[in-house]
Amino acid sequence: MKRLAFLLTFAVLFPSCLIMAGEGMWIPMLLQYNEKEMQEMGMRITADDIYSINHSSLKDAIVLFGGGCTGEIVSDYGLLLTNHHCGYGSIQRHSSVEHDYLTDGFWANDRSQELPCPGMSVTFLREMRDVTSRVLEGVTDDMDEADRQSKIEANIKKITAEVEKETEYKVSIKPFFLGNEYYLLLNEVYTDIRLVGCPPSNIGKFGGDTDNWVWPRHTGDFSIFRVYADKDGHPADYSAENVPYKPAKHLDISLKGAVEGDFTFVFGYPARTSEYLPAVAVDQEANLIDPITVDLRGKILDIYNKYQEQDKKVRIQYASKHAGLGNGWKKWMGVTEGINHFHGVEKKQFFEEDFQNWASGDESRAQYVNLLGQFEKNYKDLELFQLAYTYVAEAGMNIELFSFAGKFAKLAQVTKETPQEDIDKMIASLKGSAKSFFKDYYMPIDKEVAAMLLKEYIKAQPADFRPAFLNDIKDVDEYVETLFAKSFLVSEESVNAFLDGFKAKSVKKLQNDPAFVAYQSIIGFYRDHVYPSLASITEDNQRLQRIYMKGQMEMQPEKRFSPDANFTLRVTYGKIEGFKPKDGMNYRHFTTLEGIMQKENPDIYDYVVEPRLKELYNNKDYGRYADKDGTMHVAFTASVHTTGGNSGSPILNADGQLLGLNFDRCWEGTMSDLIYDPSICRNISVDIRYVLFIIDKFAGAKHLVDEMTIVE
Ligand code: ARG
Ligand code: ASP
Repeated sequence: MKRLAFLLTFAVLFPSCLIMAGEGMWIPMLLQYNEKEMQEMGMRITADDIYSINHSSLKDAIVLFGGGCTGEIVSDYGLLLTNHHCGYGSIQRHSSVEHDYLTDGFWANDRSQELPCPGMSVTFLREMRDVTSRVLEGVTDDMDEADRQSKIEANIKKITAEVEKETEYKVSIKPFFLGNEYYLLLNEVYTDIRLVGCPPSNIGKFGGDTDNWVWPRHTGDFSIFRVYADKDGHPADYSAENVPYKPAKHLDISLKGAVEGDFTFVFGYPARTSEYLPAVAVDQEANLIDPITVDLRGKILDIYNKYQEQDKKVRIQYASKHAGLGNGWKKWMGVTEGINHFHGVEKKQFFEEDFQNWASGDESRAQYVNLLGQFEKNYKDLELFQLAYTYVAEAGMNIELFSFAGKFAKLAQVTKETPQEDIDKMIASLKGSAKSFFKDYYMPIDKEVAAMLLKEYIKAQPADFRPAFLNDIKDVDEYVETLFAKSFLVSEESVNAFLDGFKAKSVKKLQNDPAFVAYQSIIGFYRDHVYPSLASITEDNQRLQRIYMKGQMEMQPEKRFSPDANFTLRVTYGKIEGFKPKDGMNYRHFTTLEGIMQKENPDIYDYVVEPRLKELYNNKDYGRYADKDGTMHVAFTASVHTTGGNSGSPILNADGQLLGLNFDRCWEGTMSDLIYDPSICRNISVDIRYVLFIIDKFAGAKHLVDEMTIVE
């Protein structure tokens, strides 16, 4: 009864929740099973146009950009688009005080001016194969886990070796559906990647961390690279002889814009989702762990803000740290809100009731009967260790002095027997670390963060289950004063002096350094008291999760399941649409240049507007990039299931033409990594017409647009 009442209220409040279209990150080689639904939603191309190994298809234009983003090829000369925040590292590496490309943007006038990016790579998926039955050959249900794992590993090794003989591509085999299926991937990795162009940060990062995860959004989040190959089109390291890579396919670009209600899809590399967790796990993450991390990071960010506002140099020094911490902080806040607002835990519990009844309904389902009970027990046991891990990680990473001390762990093991050559190498590398560490280090911030985190740590974690050094602290403020006064790890000069005079017996000084002592205490506690249990329970949960996944699929044979994201190429689809985040609020699906002018504030770093952009706006000089409503559209939302890694992914129309670049999600729906809800989960993309407008009208780099295929 209670359940019925709940479902009814739910259906009235959020009618669209009952139709789950939009959910799912689909394997491109299996897209024929979705084709009918996609076409009913409006798609005018076929699954075979998206993924084929017999002829060129859209997949030939999609790449994994570096290790964490997606990119797409938009010309026959290897021109590649991705997000500004994905190209950020490469842009920063080429920036100096004289050439500040982050601030001013960068545009190569011709190919000779393009900047090589050593260390950057892009990966093309050439082919995918289902190898489940071969990987699971000889594996049985009653095998113990260790035997099972070693059998699987041996099979994978054998298949990989076999396929490697017949191909020039990189071979890898990955588990899908939590270890119930296995697919083999043939990849080709290009390493001569050059920076072609990027807008200034106050376009590419407009709104900064203030607007991050939030709608309405006005970020021109794009950058342009080019892939180079040897003269035969094969991957090759940088060489002046290399030529632009000619893809089997590049994306066509539509100038028609994102029309509300239209079918749309995203093609890219989502990193990680966990849609099939039991209710206890979601509850633990959303209501125990995330809130603690959010609270601690919120306090750290307050301290950063205070000092960043006082001093321009500090603002730059802590910009990237602030962005990193702030990105997770804001997202996890949204996750907790979303899960609770949308009764995510209860919904999972209701499903589990059904699952339990189904499992008990037939003897053949015996392996599923105790599953949920075992999850309950495991997650209860895990709690203590998860909490301990959270504090270890937050204090170990965010007290910068401690994390810096950690870099000296190897040096602390030097003895009289260690070859001088090894010591010299360690010293050289530590000097490099010190140089980059102190460049962006501001001690007053670290002191205040340390005092705050240690107080929180002592308050939250029991004396018999925390790093021992905490129990020797009588007064945290006094401890912190002494720590920073006595440690030689607080300045580049004293670190270098120590390194210059280093001998085997200097190890004593290091081991007695209070920052190093604290670091050792934290790591030792984690290694001896947290990690062993954390690892063994997690391993058992992975086993349960695999069986639970199998059970869910057996229980709902008609349902199409999509495997959790695992950094492999996926297709996700939905509609161009806005949403209603709260009662009485209605979000339109697009933003315009007017919004940038509304947000403009020359005194707030995130909201400075380039004079040249203002001029174009005042003259309404949008050329063919204006929408038919006469305005310049900047960003738009859609109900497409995306996650981290999908940044830079193309968002395409019913004909498979480029509409924009995905770069974020709306805060209210960040729970989509755990539970996707089409009424509230929206991805955010920058409109390709704004991208072209910036390239052509703002930067005067029309030669780049001329390389592309534009469909008016
Ligand atoms: N939230 C987006 C993602 O998770 C964008 C992050 C980069 N932008 C920023 N303002 N920090 O990656
Ligand atoms: N901003 C994310 C990324 O960089 C995308 C997301 O989490 O929605 O991959």
